[in-house]
Amino acid sequence: MHHFQERNGELWAEEVRVADLAREYGTPLYVYSTATLTRHFQAFDSAFSQLPHLTCFSLKSNSNLHVLKLLKELGAGADIVSGGELHRALMAGMDPKQIVFSGVGKQEFEMQAALAADILMFNVESAQELETLSRLAGEMNTTARISLRINPDVDPKTHPYISTGLKKNKFGIQMSHALELYARARDLPGIEPVGIDCHIGSQLTQVSPFLDALDRLMALRSQLVDMGLNIKYLDIGGGLGITYGEEEPPHPSELGQALSHALQNEDLTLILEPGRVIAGNAGILVSRVLACKSTDDKNFAVVDAAMNDLLRPSLYSAYHRIAEVRANRRPEQTVDVVGPICETGDFLAKDRILPGLQADDLIAVFSAGAYGFTMSSQYNSRPRAAEVLVDKDRARLIRHRETFADLLRLEENV
Ligand code: LLP
Repeated sequence: MHHFQERNGELWAEEVRVADLAREYGTPLYVYSTATLTRHFQAFDSAFSQLPHLTCFSLKSNSNLHVLKLLKELGAGADIVSGGELHRALMAGMDPKQIVFSGVGKQEFEMQAALAADILMFNVESAQELETLSRLAGEMNTTARISLRINPDVDPKTHPYISTGLKKNKFGIQMSHALELYARARDLPGIEPVGIDCHIGSQLTQVSPFLDALDRLMALRSQLVDMGLNIKYLDIGGGLGITYGEEEPPHPSELGQALSHALQNEDLTLILEPGRVIAGNAGILVSRVLACKSTDDKNFAVVDAAMNDLLRPSLYSAYHRIAEVRANRRPEQTVDVVGPICETGDFLAKDRILPGLQADDLIAVFSAGAYGFTMSSQYNSRPRAAEVLVDKDRARLIRHRETFADLLRLEENV
């Protein structure tokens, strides 16, 4: 359920007309809904209320400072994968004791910054990382709390590019190497093993892969307890899917019930790293039609948003629902909605049935709140889009549209 609804032929973001936002802030424009972000966070977080738990919002899905501040006010921690994300989380006022640091290739300056901030836990992904972390913690006279990110070899049944928990994927540590590496972690100075972590993939539409992964982690945990390790945290990662089109992913409460059942008698704090399920349907991308043209084979609507603004359709052939911002009641047409970038792969939708579009019409691309702006670029020297956060009948610009000066700023005077 989200707060981008059509009323009397017009699309509204909460109590604001989307067409008014496009007029005021220009297009392409990302629009987020406070009520939707709030609702999604609370629905997710409360699904685990029977367990000691921490919901660490995955910054890679949406890292706008103002979105982070809102989620922090609701009690969110952060799942970060870079020094830049650490910086954003801290600048948003997030509590370091609610930050977990994942990532297959952490650099020394990133580990040092996270040690200095005294974050809750590093999710370590290689033996090399463990050794480096131990050395850096020693140099800084501190201790790194760690979990090992285990690759449980579970098929998440999702797009291959966003499957992460299979043996053939680059992520985590193979289960059969885990005990040896935990033993090393126990013995290394400056390292305190406190958790077990996994993340098996993204846009999961079933609960069962989470439970399969949990089973494997719990089996490992009892072996770790036998080794004398005090494992306090179990981090199951993110990955719960959303409805883009026809998908029917489980409600967070289903996942909550299943995990609560499995963990009810365990002395563990569950950590969750949701991204998409919080932010995905809390944002739309608004774009203006620049031109329409037809060939013998195809109708094209060329719009002012492109793959640099929203990469998912080009990269994953991902489906995003598209609708007009103002119903035009023209006869339907099958159309490719494409951007101005000089690549055939630059499209937002292919063979989509939409009411006939004309130049200057506004369209909304739905489910763009996660992995939308964060994956955007300046390809073709296109300044990045602006971002707006709506709260009831008010809209606030939360990121300026980039300018031509922004394109050149770091290249001048060097
Ligand atoms: N934790 C870790 C360690 C992750 O790698 C990810 C996502 C998450 C949490 C959050 O997953 P979520 O709850 O959002 O599914 N760009 C792709 C998604 C890549 C996800 C990468 N990792 C897309 O647009 O679909």
